[in-house]
Order: sequence, then C-alpha cells, then structure tokens
Amino acid sequence: MIRDSYIKTVIEPFKIKTVEPIKFTTFEERERILKDAGYNPFLISAENVLIDLLTDSGTSAMSSAQWAGLLDGDESYAGSRSFYRMEAKVRQITGMKNIIPTHQGRAAEKILFSIIGGKGKVVPNNTHFDTTRANVEYSGAMAIDCLNEQGKHPEIIADFKGNMDIEKLEATILKYGVENIPVVMITVTNNSGGGQPVSMENIRQTRAICDKYGLPLIMDSCRFAENAYFIKMREPGYQDKTPLEIAQEMFSYADGSTMSAKKDALVNIGGWLALNNDDLAVQCRNLLIVTEGFPTYGGLAGRDLEAIAQGLEEILDEDYLHYRIKSTEYLGNKLTELGIPILLPPGGHAIYLDAKRFCPTIPQDQFPAQSITCALYLDGGIRAVEIGSVMFGRMEEGAFVAPDLELVRLAIPRRVYTQSHIDYVIEVVKHVHDRREELRGLRLTYEAPMLRHFTARFDYID
Ligand code: F0G
Repeated sequence: MIRDSYIKTVIEPFKIKTVEPIKFTTFEERERILKDAGYNPFLISAENVLIDLLTDSGTSAMSSAQWAGLLDGDESYAGSRSFYRMEAKVRQITGMKNIIPTHQGRAAEKILFSIIGGKGKVVPNNTHFDTTRANVEYSGAMAIDCLNEQGKHPEIIADFKGNMDIEKLEATILKYGVENIPVVMITVTNNSGGGQPVSMENIRQTRAICDKYGLPLIMDSCRFAENAYFIKMREPGYQDKTPLEIAQEMFSYADGSTMSAKKDALVNIGGWLALNNDDLAVQCRNLLIVTEGFPTYGGLAGRDLEAIAQGLEEILDEDYLHYRIKSTEYLGNKLTELGIPILLPPGGHAIYLDAKRFCPTIPQDQFPAQSITCALYLDGGIRAVEIGSVMFGRMEEGAFVAPDLELVRLAIPRRVYTQSHIDYVIEVVKHVHDRREELRGLRLTYEAPMLRHFTARFDYID
C-alpha cells in the first residue's frame, strides 16, 4: 500500500470506464411517486431514484477483470471450470471442505435450516439478519439474538459493537438445552446492528462456548472482508497481518459459512454455503439439486461463478478496503459534525440514522424511521431503508412491541458513488434534519404476514 503521509484525501482506488446516467426528478414528481408507492421506497421504480442507498447488496460496480470473466465463464452444466475457480478461491479464504454455490445468501440459509432447523430448535446469533431470522422461523425453529449490551446503544462508541454477548449465548444454550441448538451463528459484520464488526477475540470466545457444548459455529460471512479490515485497524496484534490472513483466521474458528456474494464478493448475484461436515454437506447438496441446481453451479451461471472468483481477489485488497471503510466513515463523521444522530461509530457498509433521536416527536408505533426514509426521497431523491419498527416491530396480544433500535440505513454500494455523490447525500440529510419537526407519523394500510417491510403500504397520520 502506497500512501504518503502528507496526503490526507482518501481517493477512490479505481477510475471509471463505464457510466450509467441517473435521472433527476422534481419535488412534485417525487411527491406523486412516493404516494403511488404507498410511502414505501421499496415500491419505487429505481429509475426514479437519484442516489440509491437502499442496499449494498448486489449493487456493486464490477471491475473490468470481472466483466472480462463473464465472457470467460464456462457454462457447462456439470464440472464447470468457473466453479472450480470459485471453489478454490472460497476454499483459500475459508479453509472449508465443502463449497456449495447458491444463487444468493438466503438460498444458503433456506437449505441449511430446512435440514437442521425445525420445531423446538433454537438458533442463537449476535443478530440475525431478517432473511436469516425468517428462514430459521420458517423451518419452525426460534431465532435468538445475543448481541452485547454496547451494540444496543447507538450513541456508545466502541470498537466491536457487533460482538456476541458470550454470557447470554451460554445462558441461551442452557435455557433451551444443548440438544435443541443445531448451530450457533455469528454475523460479520453485524448488519442489523449497524454494520458493526466482531473482534477476533469474540469469535474465539464464541468458538470456545461452541467447543464446551459440542456445537458447530456457522459464520454469516456476507461482509467478512470489511470485518477483517476493522480487526486490522482496531484489534491489537493484527496491524501487520494482511486482510486475507485475518479472514482466514476468522473462518478457522467456524465450521461453516453462509454467504451472500452480493456483498463482499463484489457481484450482482451469488452466494454459497460452505461446510466442513461432510454428512451435512451431502444432505445440503441433495436439497440444492431440488431447489437451486447441480452442485457445481447451484442456481448460478458459469459466468457468475467466474465473477465471484475474481471479486474475491479484489475484495481483500488493502487499498480497496481502506477506501471502503474510510469513505463510509467520511459520511458518518460529516453527519456527526452537523449534529445529526447516527449509530456510532460508523459501520463498514452503511451509516444508520438514529431515528429515535433524529425525530423524537414520532412514537415508534408510528414508524419514525419510515417517515425519515420518505423525507429523504421527497427532499433529495435518495432511497434509504428503514430498519426499525416496520422491519422488526410486532403485535403481541394487541400491543405493539417495538424493537430496541429504530434506524434508517444509508447503505453504500461498493465502488459506485463518488465523494460528490456523498456530499450531496450529506446536504439532503441535513435538510431533512433541519425540518424534522414537520415530519409526520405513518400508519400501515397493508402488511404481508412475513417480511412485511418489502411490500407494506402506508399513509400519513393527520
Ligand atoms: N445475511 C446478512 C447479514 C445480510 O446482510 C443479508 C442480505 C443476507 C444474509 C441475505 O443475503 O440478500 O443474498 O439473500 N442483506 C441485504 C441487505 C439484502 O440489504 O442488507 P441475500
């Protein structure tokens, strides 16, 4: 890594070869579009979005080498060369024996929990991502979050707020009985808790608990490279290690990995389920054949596998990771300087506005984070995503049970937006914050029985 000490600016470590125009709309147009979408930005056509921070998933810009790989992809049904390249790369990083390609992360989750989940089973995690929770629960099992206390407080600044609460993990195992825990999971970085990293020490401690009770540890590794870079920056003893070495150590404590390659493999589609246990892998492959495809393509085209293999080369590049983590931090720091409450410290892939403090006048059962999300679109054509009472709130015996965190996620697609795009985002968020007293609460007019945030519709409360 060449970075001279007199240079302060972190520049994008790439130049742009292909561009995609983005469309400007007027305030009046956005008012109509938002109303038609039932005040749910998921239901807005992407062409009407100026800056799309809905997700960092599948939205990466691929490199010229990845695009070249698409032409080079081997489309053989069985034994594709591109599969072997992807398998070798995943194995180099994870050290896992069985690499099962899937079309995305939730397909890996579905296959895994169809086999090891079921009624009476309990799956602990630092924080289950929504699809992970949904797949655990769909199998009939229970998903339990064991996030450390600091991770639940947006204003606390700490290095590893994604850490598992080791005592809570052990208490959960004892409460429900070892025989009912098929696996322990750990999500790196912790997306639903603010993209916060998990320390190597904590992964090691989680492993020790798993060893104590003879349980396998599965890593939800969507953002493993970002987590590895945080460890390099923050955890003593890792400064001189490469991101690859750190990632390899992280995976060495796990028995399996579920992965959405749409994040830290820099591709638009793809994933894997990696497992050390051969018997479990056989069962998973059999189900894969029914639901995804033959075990050497698993729901992907050969070219997708090629792009994943190349993306995994690029994601662990230190210049890339430095730019990635620093540019997310840039957005977080600027908002903080403006007095805008965010989940601190800035995470790896996203900045999360803390809606409870941003908008204290709207109670959680009127979806303050959703209201801010709507205002960001209305005022600046920015699409963010609510991670709060819409996504995780629920009714229990007629009463609304609010989640701990009420957030608006500004997820940063990888290698897509430049610093001036981000400066524009800062300006719009400031404008919404300045007029926060005017924001109104929302009520649901439609909700699906599961994962309601994707399709819910709302109206403003007068
Ligand atoms: N696990 C984590 C931690 C995730 O963030 C995601 C996806 C998945 C699993 C599922 O992967 O989408 O490929 O099926 N997160 C996206 C997001 C959707 O916007 O955060 P998938």
